[in-house]
Amino acid sequence: MTRQILVTSALPYANGPIHLGHLVEYIQTDIFVRFQRLRGHRVGYLCADDTHGAAIMIRAQKEGRTPEQLIGEMTVAHQRDFAAFGISFDHYGSTNSPANFEVCSGIWHNLRKANMVVERSVERLFDPVQKTFLADRFVKGECPRCAALDQYGDSCEKCGSTYSATELKNPRSVHSGAVPELRPSQQLFVTLTPLQEFLTEWTQRSGALQTEVANYLAGHFLDKPLQDWDVSRPAPYFGFEIPDAKGQHWYVWFDAPIGYIASTKEWCEKTGQSLAAWWQNPQCEIVHFLGKDITYFHTLFWPALLKMGGYELPKRVQIHGFLRINGEKMSKSRGTFVMAESYLKELDPSWLRYYYASKLSNKIDDLDFNTAEFVGKVNSDLVGRVVNLASRSARFVETVGLAKSYPADGGLFAKAAATSEAIAAAYEACDYREAMRLVMLLADAANEYVDQKTPWTLKKDPTRAQELQDVCTVVLNLFRQIAIYLAPVLPELATKAGTLLQDPITSFAQAQKPLVGTQLAKFEHMMQRVEEAKVALLFQAPEAQPEPAATAAPALAPAAPAAATADGPEALAKEPLAAEITIDDFQKVDLRIARIVAAEHVPEAKKLLRLTLSLGGPEPRNVFAGIKSAYAPEQLVGRLVVMVANLAPRKMKFGMSEGMVIAAGTDGEVFLLSPDSGARAGQRLH
Ligand code: 2FM
Ligand code: ZN
Repeated sequence: MTRQILVTSALPYANGPIHLGHLVEYIQTDIFVRFQRLRGHRVGYLCADDTHGAAIMIRAQKEGRTPEQLIGEMTVAHQRDFAAFGISFDHYGSTNSPANFEVCSGIWHNLRKANMVVERSVERLFDPVQKTFLADRFVKGECPRCAALDQYGDSCEKCGSTYSATELKNPRSVHSGAVPELRPSQQLFVTLTPLQEFLTEWTQRSGALQTEVANYLAGHFLDKPLQDWDVSRPAPYFGFEIPDAKGQHWYVWFDAPIGYIASTKEWCEKTGQSLAAWWQNPQCEIVHFLGKDITYFHTLFWPALLKMGGYELPKRVQIHGFLRINGEKMSKSRGTFVMAESYLKELDPSWLRYYYASKLSNKIDDLDFNTAEFVGKVNSDLVGRVVNLASRSARFVETVGLAKSYPADGGLFAKAAATSEAIAAAYEACDYREAMRLVMLLADAANEYVDQKTPWTLKKDPTRAQELQDVCTVVLNLFRQIAIYLAPVLPELATKAGTLLQDPITSFAQAQKPLVGTQLAKFEHMMQRVEEAKVALLFQAPEAQPEPAATAAPALAPAAPAAATADGPEALAKEPLAAEITIDDFQKVDLRIARIVAAEHVPEAKKLLRLTLSLGGPEPRNVFAGIKSAYAPEQLVGRLVVMVANLAPRKMKFGMSEGMVIAAGTDGEVFLLSPDSGARAGQRLH
């Protein structure tokens, strides 16, 4: 029976590039999708960029552009990376789309009608300098769990815990550096208690969730009344304004999963299908793939929204663990946050697809990328055991093609054909590790056959030409079966096998019947071996890595205004070292970290910008800095700089200058200094 399956991967945030951690999920999903298509099922694979929220707004602000410009550029980069890894979406949308606003509004309307939206005053953090409420991402401080410094108000990048912004120790506003105050704010909540019984039933008994997930929910959330969900965020916020609550926006986690439906909607409009056939059709199986960190949103809030919106619930929520690199958490400083783009510069995407497949099971365990294992699996499994089957046989029958009838092979083909259902069951269960194990056993059997029959010896004896053709016909058919079974994981290899044997691979069922009597295309090499040094290199150059997406840490410093040049003696020659001073002389200069809270042009001054600097205390400083030739004011707001804080105030034509910002270089080539991440405004430099 043909099934109809709607598949999604979690929508990647639009504030950073795709990295190897993301790819665990997209490759896992794509294998499932390709497998289902090869089984003849009707599949829709939908995704989109997750574009809203404070993190994106902060990053855009720091880069001196609009969030729309940032997300526009990001979606192009994301789709380029996904395509390079063979991720076969049917449609890739954006949560910042009219379709998404429309679907969000419909669900919201139903929630209101069911009296599930409640308004309540809550204490929120307020920036007394900027006079705005602060979204969680606009507050930074010490993690209330592990005391790590410089953490955002929603979660800790060091220990991974989540908390509310009011729990942060020593909080401060990202905008102004001021200590936030608690002020009452009217917020909108979605109350989930009317659905408690429904959600308990669905999570515990529908079979949609892995057992460990169902147990986690039962033990952590469903054992007490579900908490109301704060879904509104006051301006400034990059998101959709709530139609019936002016000045309030839907929290990014409200409209993000709705993006799954919106992306389907756009796809349906483009292809003349009906949205209801995918989302309001009990016969359609909805399958979500996602990481364990976002379990809560997808297994409690999201089903609640679907239920209230009149949509079908997922038949399956497939949750996976995180990627680790050589036994350790991915880390920017260790250089293990490898971007898809960096991987693609040196390595073949098929290798990663196979490597992940060989490690993924239906469990939520983390997946460890081990360099030596990666090299071993590519070189010995893929090249040594699979691709070699073709290179060891195809050349011998290049001119004659495959035998007219399938020769006796001791039952090898039939046995491999009979393994089809076990391999399919493993794919269906997302136990790809098991599927790969079964396929490699078939490859071993085929290689043993080659070793026994030694086609290279047969080739030397013209009287045994028929025997040679028969042996190669068997080997190429066994190779073809393997290529079919691996097609969900290695679509390119399947295409090359189809080209070689002049019979494209389009269905799993092709593994049941041997191919005979066809001519062969010229043999082309199918896959390279990987060099270990190239893989090791990937994890070694932190300075070469761009910003990771998952940690969502916006760069504190904007791009340097001029490209770096090689070091040389010119700077010293131009400005020789000053006369020696004592340590006491130096200590007279009070250098402090300061945050630029505001920056503006001084219309009458050619070289100056007016900066408002915060040292963390209540009194901001006004400083005129000669950096106009190198920086635009909007690039500067929010970043940390170094200032001379005890310089006597100086009266200038445009006002008082209360300090000096430290920069290197001279006119036209000015470079501000920034501390490493973790430094705080007000800290003294020693
Ligand atoms: O955790 C994340 O990366 C989110 N951007 C996932 C969103 S999935 C869905 F709900 F949109
Ligand atoms: Zn922490």
